[in-house]
Amino acid sequence: MINKMDMLEDIEQVLVSQEDIQKRIKEVGAQISEDYRGKCPILVGVLKGVVPFYAAMAQAITIPLQEDFMCVTSYEGGTASTGKLTFRKDIDHDIQGRDVLILEDILDSGRTLKLIVDMFRARNPRSVKICTLLDKPSGRQEDLQADYVCFTIPDAFVVGYGLDYEDYYRNLPFVGVLKPSVYQDK
Ligand code: IMP
Ligand code: MG
Repeated sequence: MINKMDMLEDIEQVLVSQEDIQKRIKEVGAQISEDYRGKCPILVGVLKGVVPFYAAMAQAITIPLQEDFMCVTSYEGGTASTGKLTFRKDIDHDIQGRDVLILEDILDSGRTLKLIVDMFRARNPRSVKICTLLDKPSGRQEDLQADYVCFTIPDAFVVGYGLDYEDYYRNLPFVGVLKPSVYQDK
């Protein structure tokens, strides 16, 4: 448990404001609606960090789509990816012949999405694309890029708008840099 629970005080700097997030999601949602016109994509959210982004993006997309979710964890708490992935929940739908659009909160090393994309490709979908709220290119370990990026951010540990530190701070309505003092003395 974090004893001092003043969320705003624990933020060093706001990186992306709530207003900018909402505006950008509308723009990207309009682009996706155009690109997938006449198709009925399946929107796959990677839990749990994607929840607020998924809700907003699904509504910003104005064409019919099917919703699905999967759950993978790579952190086991802490602020650095363990590189070890645990699959906790697969999607419910058969994606053979389907256009799959994966929604993620953040693309960092790319390990999580690389694994998911490879797993999906083996199921013979028509297409697999990635849409991420945040892209942290400095952390990349895999040769992987998102097809839709809302914001590119510098190398910092961020929380808010779904992103967490030990499942805290997900409910902040903006994306901010977490003060290192919050996790350093743990
Ligand atoms: P990757 O496999 O290294 O690309 O990491 C992807 C996952 O790591 C995301 O789904 C997040 O859950 C988590 N993650 C990466 N960077 C951050 C961050 O700055 N703050 C919070 N979570 C992060
Ligand atoms: Mg996380």
